[in-house]
Amino acid sequence: MFTPLKFGKYKVYVVEATPVRPSIRIMGLANIIVKNLRDPIEINIRQRIAVKNIKKIDDSELGYLIYLLSSSAVPYYLQNYLQRYDPHSQCVLSYASILKDGSIQLNVAALVTRNDTRFTGKRPTVFMAIVKDPKKKFRLNMVQQLYKLSWNLLEYKLSKYGEDVDSLLAQRIHNIVVQLVSKLETNNIDIVIPEYNETIRIRIPIRQPQWSLNDVPSKLRSSIETIIVKPILNKASYAPRGILITGPPGVGKTVTAEAISSALKMKIIELRPSSYRSMWYGLTEKILEQALASVKKKRKAVLLLDDVDFLVGRHIALHETHVAEITIFLRFLQEENRPPVILTTNAPEILDPALIRPGRIDVVILMGYPDREFRKYIAMRSAKRYGIQLEPEKAELIASLTRWFTHAEIDALVRLAASKSEGKIDEESIMWARQQFVINESMRKAIQDRLRWFAENFQGITIKCVASETEIV
Ligand SMILES: Nc1ncnc2c1ncn2[C@@H]1O[C@H](COP(=O)(O)OP(=O)(O)O)[C@@H](O)[C@H]1O
Ligand SMILES: [Mg+2]
Repeated sequence: MFTPLKFGKYKVYVVEATPVRPSIRIMGLANIIVKNLRDPIEINIRQRIAVKNIKKIDDSELGYLIYLLSSSAVPYYLQNYLQRYDPHSQCVLSYASILKDGSIQLNVAALVTRNDTRFTGKRPTVFMAIVKDPKKKFRLNMVQQLYKLSWNLLEYKLSKYGEDVDSLLAQRIHNIVVQLVSKLETNNIDIVIPEYNETIRIRIPIRQPQWSLNDVPSKLRSSIETIIVKPILNKASYAPRGILITGPPGVGKTVTAEAISSALKMKIIELRPSSYRSMWYGLTEKILEQALASVKKKRKAVLLLDDVDFLVGRHIALHETHVAEITIFLRFLQEENRPPVILTTNAPEILDPALIRPGRIDVVILMGYPDREFRKYIAMRSAKRYGIQLEPEKAELIASLTRWFTHAEIDALVRLAASKSEGKIDEESIMWARQQFVINESMRKAIQDRLRWFAENFQGITIKCVASETEIV
């Protein structure tokens, strides 16, 4: 127990069940709470504050919050605001943590009251409960219980020190409940750039990958595991850090990028030109630099540059901003401690040649049109994804009818057939859906050959997943 300050007509009594330790980082929290002590407060208040690394702040530090509040803001609040309504008002503050089983552990309680503790039980009382609740188990109906506990502790301790505290539960005039919850791993990268007369805010989302390595053809899967996933997970010095996935549109490049991320147990930060380009002179570079600096700090994430055709050769880039942009990316790719980067494109030959250099990009994955076996898999997977009934023989039929189709087209065919047959795909609906597609096989073959040529001329490691013509059948 102690009596730190006399604040006007008030005295503060603090009782600890857990020893209290001063801490600087608690002051920020106190500030946030104090902002809520506005005038007038006639209703109950509930405030949720998300705290970073809440598990690392222990109860003895958080108990300090009660010291801070009870010896500064709260007496001030009572004296200057509440007195106008209730001249005898006082405040009970407590800090409790919610244990794993949902029970309450009271750590610190404080009483801010008029000079003497006589008749405290009869004075109108504000109850301020600060609850550490990382698992969000706290329910508002627990406030009453917490209030009783707090009074019990105060009364027991204060009477031991000869203070004459009333045993009656004082009547509460209102509650202020502050729940300290854990701040979730943020799902965004927020960039704030102060400019002359406005502040520019940009938010880059961080997402969970939606696909897994099972959604990648088995040949490709084992190469990805050996060449990419295992070395990165083992933090091997030879682990690749830049991966380019190339192939015609719709053959699962983005899906594969997601699958690699989920095999790495990492989230995806996707950076698109639309999110960082600005019409203001010089600002695009500034935003991009900051975005990449934030990306660099993220440990468990992959940077995805999807359809990266904007990183064209600098000799083709028309605008100086565009040149600067590409240069910034090149510099970033060169950095030591950056996260893994995955790029996808269907036109690798227009990329800046400096980009496709080991050290920046070490692995190229070449994806072509799916073979028959995988076409069956895609049909089944799509059916499952949309909750469509599809028997294995029907999937087989789809596979046999979809030579040179892309993944995306097979997916579309499954959906078409399902709409034709109202959910249960049969032979007729498959034949009908097939007729909706016109596939120029020779053109596709040419595209595939061109990409194969590109991959063969790449200086680093290549992983090819290009079915030969006989496998396509
Ligand atoms: N393994 C798969 N299983 C089922 N559908 C797939 C699979 N891979 C791709 N698809 C379908 O094809 C679409 C296009 O894939 P995507 O990865 O976006 O192609 P790309 O990036 O090469 O253009 C996806 O949205 C999905 O509908
Ligand atoms: Mg894509």
